[in-house]
Amino acid sequence: MTRKWSYMVIFSLLLIVPLVAIGGEGGAKKKRRKKAKMVKIRTVASVGSLMVGQRLVLGELSKTVKSETTPKTLETIAHLSEVLAELSNVNSVGQKKESGYRKFARTLRDHALKLRDKAKTEPTEADDMLALITQIKNTCSACHNQFR
Ligand code: HEC
Repeated sequence: MTRKWSYMVIFSLLLIVPLVAIGGEGGAKKKRRKKAKMVKIRTVASVGSLMVGQRLVLGELSKTVKSETTPKTLETIAHLSEVLAELSNVNSVGQKKESGYRKFARTLRDHALKLRDKAKTEPTEADDMLALITQIKNTCSACHNQFR
């Protein structure tokens, strides 16, 4: 190969490698977004209604976590925490626009999702789940102290 050709090959590689890397990253991002199901919905519940729902779900959730651990109760815990996470998801994009408010709602959602994941992992430690319930309750109080 002539020196000129070698330069051209090296130059092309320098150009192509970053382009492929950027493309791959974009693909991964698209996959993540698809998993998170980005949908546009018009929310319908008032903050008050979402809260009533959160209180009911949390009450049932904490009762179930304290009961004997069986495959059935673990499934219930996973379902209830996912519902709580979704209620908080809606609360985070809803009526209140203050950034601090949304942060509390997102923290609550994340704790609830952690609890769901715990309930789905074997073996599950009841104490770990109780600790998450406490974190969730603390987040309820933290937001109430500031915004209720
Ligand atoms: C991001 C902020 C935020 C978080 C997190 C939050 N709340 Fe609230 N909550 C509010 C606000 C604001 C009100 C007052 C709503 C109103 O009166 O319209 C409220 C009110 C309530 C009420 C009274 C509702 C009524 O009108 O009867 C209950 C019950 C309640 N929250 C339960 C909870 C529980 C349980 C959690 C945790 C699982 C929680 N909240 C987490 C902001 C939050």
